[in-house]
Formats: sequence, structure tokens, C-alpha cells
Amino acid sequence: MNMNDTTLCEIIKNIPGSINVLKSYDINVYTNLRKTLNELLVVEDVIKYSDMIDKLNDLSRDNKELLKFCDIPHQELIKHIITNFHIKHRDQLNQAIELAKRVEITHYEHPKCPIGLSDFLEAIANELYSHMEKEEQILFPMISQGIYPDGPIFVMEQEHDDHIQALSSLMVLVNHLELHEDACQSWKKLYLLLEQFESDILTHIALENNILFKH
Ligand SMILES: [Fe+2]
Ligand SMILES: [Fe+2]
Repeated sequence: MNMNDTTLCEIIKNIPGSINVLKSYDINVYTNLRKTLNELLVVEDVIKYSDMIDKLNDLSRDNKELLKFCDIPHQELIKHIITNFHIKHRDQLNQAIELAKRVEITHYEHPKCPIGLSDFLEAIANELYSHMEKEEQILFPMISQGIYPDGPIFVMEQEHDDHIQALSSLMVLVNHLELHEDACQSWKKLYLLLEQFESDILTHIALENNILFKH
């Protein structure tokens, strides 16, 4: 992967952990999803950010999250994905919806209150649950039998891009998870949970796109 010519969307969905590297260098990932690093960084920036590019290259070459699943049978990987991502996402989103409702009701007058968050999370949950159900009921049983159908895999990959788009709108709504000083415990818990969800769903997508859907 030539890092400079790759869009931020491709980077975050193919390299688990890359979102944290980009964020730690104050790159505004979600408002620049379609831009490549070359388009985003001017020449002086490229020198300034060479450290970051090295870190992204290292992660891309030697990604533990992906490498540990390269050689295991796909039946095993499916079990891992269902337990560690599908079941976990349902739990994360259900919890996040409850916390968002609490924050929205208690702090509706606060200027930083993410009004509409619980509804938006419900919409994300509906899309994601329907996607995961299609995988669990149709695609994963086929892959378990050694069948890798192009059409359904293409549709799932398109839906992964939709999830990243939704994640992008979510991050704008929650002010990129920036907490203000007087945030209450529920608010803090909610943003921590959403940060974990963001990292998990990107790893989930990377595992499916790069390993499970390839044969
Ligand atoms: Fe999945
Ligand atoms: Fe998926």
C-alpha cells in the first residue's frame, strides 16, 4: 500500500489501529475520508508528518490484528467475528442508546449536548443489525462450505463503506468525542463506549474485507 496515495477511508478500513495513529497527529479523519494523504498534507506537512507515515507503514506491513487470523480456517474466523464483534456491537449499541437518552434528557440545555444522538444510534443499530444478520444467515454459512459468492460479498463491502460514512456523521454529532470539563459520568461512559465501538467496527470491517472474504 502506497500510504501517500491512499484515501483516509481506505487506510482506516484496511489497517486496524490506524485511526488512533491518525488521530494522535490531529488529522481530521472523518471530514477528509475521500482525500489521500498527498491531497491532505502540503509538502512541509509531509516532512512534519513523516513519523506518522512511518507508523502507518509499519502497521500496514505488520498488523497483529490481521496477521493472527491469516492462517486459521475460515470457520474459526467466523466464530471469532460473531463472538467478538457481532455480539459485542449489539451490546455496545444497546448500552450507548440508553446512555445517550440519559445524557440528552439530563443535559438538553448544555451547548455541547449531542441532541439527536440516541435516534442516530438507533438508525446505526438498525443498519448494522440487518447487515450482520445477512452475514450470519446467508454469507457466513456459504463461506463455511468454501463458497465465496462475488455478488453478496460485494454488497457486504458496500455496506461496510456505508457504516464508515455513518461513523463519520456520528463523530461530527458527538464533537469527535471531545469531552468538556464538567461532563457527568454517563456522558464520559458514553464517549468511551463510542470510542471502543469505533475501533472495534473498523477492525471488524478490516478482518472481513481483507481475510474472511478472500480465498
Ligand atoms: Fe460482520
Ligand atoms: Fe460485515
